[in-house]
Amino acid sequence: MHTIAIRGSTLTFNDNPFAKPIKSCFKYEEDTIIVLQNGLISKIGPAADMLKTLPSDISIQHYRNALILPGFIDCHVHYPQTEIIGAYGKQLIDWLNKYTFVAEQNFRDKSHATKAAKVFLRECLRVGTTTAATFCTVHPDSVDAFFEISEQLNMRNIAGKVLMDRNAPAMLMDTPQSGYDQTKALIARWHGKGRQLYCVSPRFAPTSSPAQMEMTGAVWQEHPGTFLQSHVSENKAEIEWVKQLYPERKGYLDVYHYYGQLGPRAILGHGVHLTEDEFQVLHDTGTAIAHCPTSNLFLGSGLFDLKQAMDPKRPVRVGLATDLGAGTSFSQLATMNEAYKVAQLNGYSLSPLHAFYSATRGAANALYLDDKIGSLEVGKEADIIVLDLNATPIIKYRMQYAKSLEDILFVLMTLGDDRTVKATYVAGERVYSRDAEIENETFVKHLSFEL
Ligand code: GUN
Ligand code: ZN
Repeated sequence: MHTIAIRGSTLTFNDNPFAKPIKSCFKYEEDTIIVLQNGLISKIGPAADMLKTLPSDISIQHYRNALILPGFIDCHVHYPQTEIIGAYGKQLIDWLNKYTFVAEQNFRDKSHATKAAKVFLRECLRVGTTTAATFCTVHPDSVDAFFEISEQLNMRNIAGKVLMDRNAPAMLMDTPQSGYDQTKALIARWHGKGRQLYCVSPRFAPTSSPAQMEMTGAVWQEHPGTFLQSHVSENKAEIEWVKQLYPERKGYLDVYHYYGQLGPRAILGHGVHLTEDEFQVLHDTGTAIAHCPTSNLFLGSGLFDLKQAMDPKRPVRVGLATDLGAGTSFSQLATMNEAYKVAQLNGYSLSPLHAFYSATRGAANALYLDDKIGSLEVGKEADIIVLDLNATPIIKYRMQYAKSLEDILFVLMTLGDDRTVKATYVAGERVYSRDAEIENETFVKHLSFEL
């Protein structure tokens, strides 16, 4: 039995602060011990109590000036776009044609895909993201490459082969039948293998014919428990294009609804320009939105209204997401920073507790995985991160003037990034330590890939 323990200040959410009084939704403890056993959290409690009951020979890693959190969850991202992060110019459709559809062609080569998956997952762990829902490319090998590395790291990740049969370069297109067959085979190979979860991935309505949309809805419905991811209402020109391509549908979201692609475990990126009626449909069907603020600002797509989405009259499940390569940072701290600014421009101030919820338990709730990840509780999977409260000179200086937990969290999300993450644990094992070299540790084995 593999057992380790960590000690320090902890923050976790037990409920949804968008729906209930904030004070009843989180638990902050100054000095906690968490015992990690066989991949799960087996015990958690105040250090003073725990020390009395733990075996005397257990090794406890004590993190001082730190905050221990559940690992961050990125609800929508594209691992193949790691190589085009920060590509200059224009809005969504031009950006897709000029950069994305060029880069994704490289993934016909599995060794290229494997290298990108390694870089991507290394970066995820460096920024404290322990679960990502990622698109692959149209090539089944791009999915195998991703899951093979994810499985080596024992991460709980969600991924799937992109489905596209029109309005894309010939080399990136499948057909309704081949997309269906490949998806089915990949589900059989990967869904539920260890911690891996499969996501049926129609890219977005403009790149799938009605015939493909039909077969995509069918393959998802035939495999209960699998996920489905796509994009919706990201950009105004895109929305007009969908109207032309699907004139018989009420709007963009209705295309997915009509083809049986909404429901629990469906995650749609963006939703920047959704109507009130569309929010109601998302609520009624239990479909989630991935809020991607760095991407929406980078591509000039618009300002997602988190407050409207979370309206307690008909709340929609929303998780925070990077949407890299249109997103500009792997870090969910940096993403919270931009979510705050987007909210400011929408006329309200996103509290730090709401922001941290949206990247942990709220994201797990959006993905219907809150029974497994997203919080620090006995029985939950031990995906845990340690944030350094003195990570940079300016953060250290600024923290002296932080007077409350909210202040501390707000400084972390405003000034924090990869440097803030001191350690990342996946399934109870430390897979990343920022200071490994300094502390002469050896365990970063999983991340010392040959690239
Ligand atoms: N819509 C369809 N594909 C994509 C993509 O790769 N990135 C973003 N941001 N939007 C999309
Ligand atoms: Zn996306």
